[in-house]
Amino acid sequence: MHVIHSVHEMHNWVFMLKKSGKKIGFVPTMGYLHKGHLELLKLGRGQCDVLVASIFVNPTQFAPGEDYNGYPRDLKRDMELAQWAEVDCLFLPDPAEIYPPGYRTFIEVESLSENLCGAFRPGHFRGVATVVAKLFNIVAPDAAFFGEKDAQQLLIIRKMVEDLNFPVKVVGCPTVRESDGLAMSSRNVYLADEERAQATALHRSLLKAKEMVAGGETDAKKVLAAMREVLSEAPAVQVEYIQAVDVATLQDVSRIVGKVLIAMAVHVGKARLIDNIMLDTEVRGDAAKTAEMHAPH
Ligand code: PAJ
Repeated sequence: MHVIHSVHEMHNWVFMLKKSGKKIGFVPTMGYLHKGHLELLKLGRGQCDVLVASIFVNPTQFAPGEDYNGYPRDLKRDMELAQWAEVDCLFLPDPAEIYPPGYRTFIEVESLSENLCGAFRPGHFRGVATVVAKLFNIVAPDAAFFGEKDAQQLLIIRKMVEDLNFPVKVVGCPTVRESDGLAMSSRNVYLADEERAQATALHRSLLKAKEMVAGGETDAKKVLAAMREVLSEAPAVQVEYIQAVDVATLQDVSRIVGKVLIAMAVHVGKARLIDNIMLDTEVRGDAAKTAEMHAPH
């Protein structure tokens, strides 16, 4: 596995391979790798000739007071896992090279960045879109792999790729969960034992929504209220938002009809956790079958 730190070296390495016709797959991460990341790497490994992963805790997507400094890091373990996942090249850029003094250019994906997490994390998606655009320019992937756990992020990146004509195929990967339903996240490490136990309420509340919609309930207010009730049984879980939104526009819907994303963010102790479920009432035979989060073109 090549380990590359400099933008220049990364550029040269990848362009040499592209010249020889290799298809480059790319998985950007902030490290502290878990099975969710590994699933993205597996997808990329299967679909591309050359697999590049990056680990970069991107300062511009953290608002002041968020966990940038305390974000979990374990490079040694990440390198072992990347090697195990048959990554060909691990890109570990230095923040000072990505954002040199005097850096001034940012990408804003309007409207999609404003609701859900965007309303609570000012500047977050501006930072995400900017760093992903920069990484795409540096790594020049043919395909890039992102998790549906970060549904809003995935949609924003798809929109940015479409609007800015990046020649990159964006591939979504279903959320990988622990056996008790908790979505894998680097931030789960923040959870104390009792908080970890209560955090299973997130998935239970999503399953409650799925069950209600499968039973014919279309009133978003009722579904969201029932989800809050499930969450209220876990006092350590403090809801930031739970919303039902149109999957293409991310605007709130009052009726759960067609493809609707139910997304939530909660605080559990020190951790801010997000999770979501995609419901599609138009899938015959299973009214609330979870559908894959394909690009709404
Ligand atoms: P990070 O949180 O490290 O996640 C990297 C990728 O792994 C993202 O595409 C995310 O959606 C995916 N992922 C995380 N948990 C997952 C899970 N349980 N199942 C499936 N996929 C999962 O997301 C970021 O980093 C950053 O915002 C980044 C895109 C790298 C830009 O800085």
